[in-house]
Amino acid sequence: MAEVVIVPTPEDAATLVADAVIDLIRRKPRAVLGLATGSTPSPVYRAIAARINEVDASQVQGFALDEYAGLPASHPESYRAVITREVVEPMGLTPALVHVPRGDLAHLRTAGSDYEAQIHTAGGIDLQLLGIGGDGHIGFNEPGSSFASLTRVKTLTRQTREDNARFFSSIDEVPSHSVTQGLGTILRARHLVMLAFGAAKAPVVQAAIEGPLTASVPASVVQMHPHVTIVLDEAAASQLRNADYYRDAYANKPTWQGL
Ligand code: GLP
Repeated sequence: MAEVVIVPTPEDAATLVADAVIDLIRRKPRAVLGLATGSTPSPVYRAIAARINEVDASQVQGFALDEYAGLPASHPESYRAVITREVVEPMGLTPALVHVPRGDLAHLRTAGSDYEAQIHTAGGIDLQLLGIGGDGHIGFNEPGSSFASLTRVKTLTRQTREDNARFFSSIDEVPSHSVTQGLGTILRARHLVMLAFGAAKAPVVQAAIEGPLTASVPASVVQMHPHVTIVLDEAAASQLRNADYYRDAYANKPTWQGL
């Protein structure tokens, strides 16, 4: 089962995950990172950037989870722009090694298969960071997404567009479609690290970790992966039924195991 780590604050979570990422890059300078957007991973990116001088990150490769369709890459809220601003620049990564699915209309037809080929050529993703949407989506895999899905175009739900409207001046500006890694793509990554903070995420976190495996809660797919770490603050963990067990297991874990 997934390892569930409950920490007091998002900053504590960021420290823990940054340790794991820095350690991965030290062991494997050509490490392939799967990069999530949204507000949740921001403290993690800041914590990694603060320690990036401890390693040589010039060969690190990156793959974003998703991109809006039909939004120019130059738009400040395109995920290409967000990844450049929050990840590539602060961490000093080599821009040509950091990939984002192509969301421009001219490339939509082949954007998914091209992206899958790029991930394959890079040797697969070593560590995939994930947030979780209010409706249980990961990447932009909305409820009902196939567990076998690969990178493809997905229509966004009304709730996701409303949730993401805060990054735009109105909901009408939020694109209706995206190109997202599929749940099957995500399952191929070697280590999944899912993060969630705040009480608003508590019900969906509980459903994803302890509820039935169901495409209606796409994040429940993490139950099928052999190496998953879920890092939560107390508020996001507040509805878990087995929280005491997770705390015990983590407190008594041998340190050599790492995350
Ligand atoms: C977007 C992204 C997801 C992210 C989700 C949650 O829809 N495509 O990858 O997990 O938002 O965002 P936040 O972390 O801001 O709650």
